[in-house]
Amino acid sequence: MSAASFPEGFVWGVSTSAFQIEGATTAGGRGPSIWDGFSADRAEACDHYHRHTEDVRLMKDLGIAAYRFSVSWARVIPDGCGKVNTAGLDFYDRLLDELLAAGITPYATLYHWDLPQVLEDQGGWPVRDTARHFADYAAAVHERLGDRVDTWFTVNEPWVAAFLGYGSGVHAPGRTSAADAFRSAHHLLLAHGLAVQALRAAGAAKVGAVVNISPVLTPAQVSDAGRELSEEDAEAVARIDALANRQFLDPMLRGAYPADLIPLIERHAGLGHVRDGDLDVIARPIDLIGVNYYAPLVVQAQPSEPADPAFPGSEGVLFCTVPTAVTAMGWPIVPGCLSQLLGRLSREYPETDLMITENGADFVDVVTGDGIHDVDRISFIEEHLRALRSAIENGARVRGYFVWTLLDNLEWADGYQRKFGLVHVDFATQKRRPKDSARWYKDVIARNGLTETRPRRPTLETVAARARVSRATVSRVVNGESSVSSEVRATVMRVVRELGYVPNAAARSLVTRRTNTVALVLSVPRQGGDPLTAAVVQYVTSMLEGAGKQITLMLADTAESHRRIASHVEARLADGVVLLPPDRADTLAERLSRTGVPIVLLGKPAVTSLVPYVDVDNAGGAAAATEHLIARGRRHIGMICGPMDLTSVQDRLAGHRAALHRAGMSPILAPAGDLTRASGAAAARRLIGDNPSLDAIFAAGDQLAIGALRAAQETGRRVPDDLAIAGFDDVDAASATTPPLTTVRVPVADQALALARLLLSRLEGRHVTSVVLPARLVVRDST
Ligand code: FCB
Repeated sequence: MSAASFPEGFVWGVSTSAFQIEGATTAGGRGPSIWDGFSADRAEACDHYHRHTEDVRLMKDLGIAAYRFSVSWARVIPDGCGKVNTAGLDFYDRLLDELLAAGITPYATLYHWDLPQVLEDQGGWPVRDTARHFADYAAAVHERLGDRVDTWFTVNEPWVAAFLGYGSGVHAPGRTSAADAFRSAHHLLLAHGLAVQALRAAGAAKVGAVVNISPVLTPAQVSDAGRELSEEDAEAVARIDALANRQFLDPMLRGAYPADLIPLIERHAGLGHVRDGDLDVIARPIDLIGVNYYAPLVVQAQPSEPADPAFPGSEGVLFCTVPTAVTAMGWPIVPGCLSQLLGRLSREYPETDLMITENGADFVDVVTGDGIHDVDRISFIEEHLRALRSAIENGARVRGYFVWTLLDNLEWADGYQRKFGLVHVDFATQKRRPKDSARWYKDVIARNGLTETRPRRPTLETVAARARVSRATVSRVVNGESSVSSEVRATVMRVVRELGYVPNAAARSLVTRRTNTVALVLSVPRQGGDPLTAAVVQYVTSMLEGAGKQITLMLADTAESHRRIASHVEARLADGVVLLPPDRADTLAERLSRTGVPIVLLGKPAVTSLVPYVDVDNAGGAAAATEHLIARGRRHIGMICGPMDLTSVQDRLAGHRAALHRAGMSPILAPAGDLTRASGAAAARRLIGDNPSLDAIFAAGDQLAIGALRAAQETGRRVPDDLAIAGFDDVDAASATTPPLTTVRVPVADQALALARLLLSRLEGRHVTSVVLPARLVVRDST
């Protein structure tokens, strides 16, 4: 095997799942599933149910050798148990025939999260019978399709199904109970084991399960894998590893729950649901483990941190954001973790073959007349393949690799906004268009690997030289200008194809007079090194760069700088502007919007204007914090407001007032000139001095709240007994105070993503509307 090729017989494929692509949720007698109405978007998805012939043809054209799809339980057994719906199986029957005729090997997954609604109504995964029904369903599917499917996967990512579906409630069915989550996990494992038995009895050739394995590391280990850990951090890492990974691997491959996990399960759910003999069933031998890898989990010990509802038992562990490149999901890109995790699986579970059943990335794709040049996705997959290749070289027994995913699709709770596909789908027309990554992957498959060295990307100059035309002519051709003769056009396009040239910024700007540059204008100082803004800047930059834009960072801190920025934009030295956060008096936003250059804002501007913005639900978050204080029995709640020229502060005040009003209570307000700790402390002293019966403080920002906390303690108040204190923003310091601060968390990555998307849509000349994201209350010990 050469340095970049893969072992002979290595399987190259793509993965999809039924709910995410099929649509047609009532066709052919399909019953309802828990996901049908759960996603914010319509469940029509890619209408693959009606377009499978086209999709198989597309895969064939792309040279895809293997296809991992999932079977919809509700199509096959609409009520979850009992009568089999032949029409549902007919669909998969046709699909398999087409795949085989196209020379594509099918890999079937039996459960990719779409539980029949009828079974959820009977209790869902927390109920043991669901596992039994699953085994019957597996047998029914095998009976009809077993002659054409070699490899069967039972369940996909049981951690997600159990802990996001029943723990945090972010996924369907949206329940939030730690006990239900642990019971669901066990019953999903049991379902796996019973299905393995059923499939084996029916003569299935190969059987496995698909797990999402996330290596768990500390922020320091992201750049230095070998870094020694403190005892506290090592414990935090081990606990999250037990919850996320070993909870599933150990029962399936060793027949036992990890010893350090059992007390956590017992504390939240008891152990009554784990019956004698279950673990023997769960550990029935399997042929392979499918590994889905996207990103590591980055954690560190943080004594004050409350448990994350998706990881019940994770008290004292902080889930960190790290300063690495991220995908548009906000997931850190760490290819090295893939080789580490494969090495670990091969060492710890040496009996079982491995297969990468999902790996891929959501990026902000830019659709242009001449294609979708998703260079970021290509380099994401390429880096992960290099990591995989080195794991194989070191002895990991990995038999194949499946890209997630073939088509842009319905990404669960996030809907259509996520783009993981090798093929772009226009959801208005259902038109499919392969992205550059699809063509690149075709070459990988044909070559059974990567090129020895990373190919030097051909440039505009190379194309011009080979086609014997000027650079400007190449630029005109790739930009679809009609001023070039058809003969010259044909020559240039031939060379473009031969060289695999991807038009870059230079090629576009030569003709369009676009700079391909975006100005990121930071309005400072706002609140002395605001960490939220810093994180948003990091993410916005990463996402816009991912979409091929150059970023110019500009600081708007003086009148002179405002003038400079305005003339920079007026001179069209930037195609667009992201302004974060907007300048208080809005003069800059107004001025920039008059230039006609697309501009988007972080935070709602004071003067309602036509400029689209991304904001968090400040009023809703403040109302939630206030209602929480009221629910804890507080009757005299003061609010430290902060500068009233900030719209976020005005909205937080409005939300606070509204919640008090609903409870028949009146506001007690203390202004603060800025958002610092010192101002918070001063305002708290005034509130306490003026209101002897004060029993709670809500502050418009965490720094204010931290100042208030200190001042309260200095005046002899016990927090929360005498005085409860809540803040807003959930800055890092909020979880490190004594006692740790209850606050309102704003979604950083999602704000950045929304900003990047808004701007890109505006650059494409599309009409956009502002986005307001939810803010979630995080209850800690200060209330
Ligand atoms: C995995 C799921 C898959 C898709 C990707 C992005 O967890 O198995 O359906 O949502 O994430």
